[in-house]
Order: sequence, then structure tokens, then C-alpha cells
Amino acid sequence: MVASFADAPPRLREVMSALVEDLHRFVMDVKLTPEEWREAISLLMATGHITSEERQEFILWSDALGVSMLVDALEHDLPPGATESTVLGPFYVPGSPLREYGANIASQPAGDPTWVFGRVLTTEGEPIAGAEVDVWQNGDNELYAVQDPGAPEDHLRARFRTRDDGAYGFIGVRPVPYSIPSDGPVGQMLQATGRHPWRPAHIHLIVRAPGCRTLTTHIFDATSEYLDSDAVFAVKPSLLREFVRRSPGDPEAPPGMDGAWYSVETDLVLAAGDADEPVDDGRTA
Ligand SMILES: [Fe+2]
Repeated sequence: MVASFADAPPRLREVMSALVEDLHRFVMDVKLTPEEWREAISLLMATGHITSEERQEFILWSDALGVSMLVDALEHDLPPGATESTVLGPFYVPGSPLREYGANIASQPAGDPTWVFGRVLTTEGEPIAGAEVDVWQNGDNELYAVQDPGAPEDHLRARFRTRDDGAYGFIGVRPVPYSIPSDGPVGQMLQATGRHPWRPAHIHLIVRAPGCRTLTTHIFDATSEYLDSDAVFAVKPSLLREFVRRSPGDPEAPPGMDGAWYSVETDLVLAAGDADEPVDDGRTA
């Protein structure tokens, strides 16, 4: 069987040969029955049918089976001091609007306002000006805009450009734990195996800068539920941050904070290297 890939290009031959060998070994190890085989095929069919631009069930499989984190771990041999990466997740939508430093990314009320800020730095501690910080998060109804028919398309998502001192800052909301979509095949698997579908509260970021490796990461709320049982295994201790409760009269309150608010600070340290894709200069936004 493996010999049938003899004429394939080297990397494809390596990948396909290993895939087939491991797949055959798996079938023999568990003595897969014809009924189980049919069940597996219908699960794959259901995964295809439920998948769309807005519903990434294949990414969810990869996340829920720990494959996304494994690929991430293999790829990211980071220099000391660089911010750790974690899963992209199924809710990223490219092309968020570019907004000004300090902007509010919530198009409508979505929870406790939170000043999210810090600097983008090199591993030598030098500020990186003009880095792109691409953020998306859920609101207190647990949903991302892409899942929420009641939310404008650009609700709780934006891109920012760091200032000359490397600073970024925006008003988001305090994120809440949410269930990954559990009404499809991945949800069936979680239920059948007695696993819960919850993720601890977090904000997503992708940071891009010329001459630096693109960083895909989260800011996790250090006090959230589910930090020790994330449904997609994405928690890394270095990514936990305290969301500090602040008062309306706080002299550091950004404009518009007329009730209780939170702040969370995190510097984002990029490793030198090649960006995954060219940094968008904003002219097409
Ligand atoms: Fe998320």
C-alpha cells in the first residue's frame, strides 16, 4: 500500500505513507467493526455538511482532539522571553476594521468595559512601532459576532497599529467562558465521551510585524472557570492575566468609562523571523 506513493514528491510521500501506516495500525489496534466504520464515515459526512465560512467544524475537531495544540508546539520553538502562542480557534474572520488607538471595539453593550493594553516588543525589549494587533473576543452572551445574528459584523473585533513606543490599547469587554459549538459532530463526541464543551474566558490576538514571527495567542482571565479543563487544551500558564477592577472615578479611566470597568495589561513579545503573511498596510481596509 505504502509503495503506491513511491512516485509522489518527497514530502507528500512521507506524509501519506505515515498517515496510511498509522491509520491501518489504528484499525488493527481497535479491531474496527463494519458498524463502527459506517459510524465514522457518517460523522465525517455530518462534519462536511455542517461546515461553512461561519462554522469551522473541522478546526473544532482538530482543537477538541488536541491536534491544533500539538502542531503549535512543534512549530514554536521560541527564544527566551517571547510570548507563547496558542490555538487560532474556529471564530477568526480576516479583514477586521482598522481602528485608532484607544477605540471601543464593542458596537453594542456586551459586558463590563475593559481597557486592554500593553506594548509589542522584540525579545531584546525594543518597542515595535507599526505592528498590527488583530483582536477578536466574545461578549457576555458568550457569542462571537460571527455566531451572533443580533450583532453587527464588526462587533468585538478590530485591528490596531502600535504607536512609536510599541503601545496598543483598546476598550473591549471582560470575556466570559463559553461553550464551543456542541450541536454538531464534535458536540456528539464530547457528550458520548463525558467531556464538557467549555472554554475559559479569553481574548484572541494575532500580532504581525515585519521581520518577526507572527504570534497567534490569547489573554486568559486568570480567575476564570475551566482553566484546568479547557475543551481545546489551549491554556498555557504564561498567558494568564489579572483583570483588575477599577472605579469610575479612576484618574486613568479612558473616556466613556462611567461605570465600573476593568483593565488588563499584557506585553506581546515577538520572536525574530519571517511573518506568516505580508503585514497589511491598511490601504485596502
Ligand atoms: Fe475563543
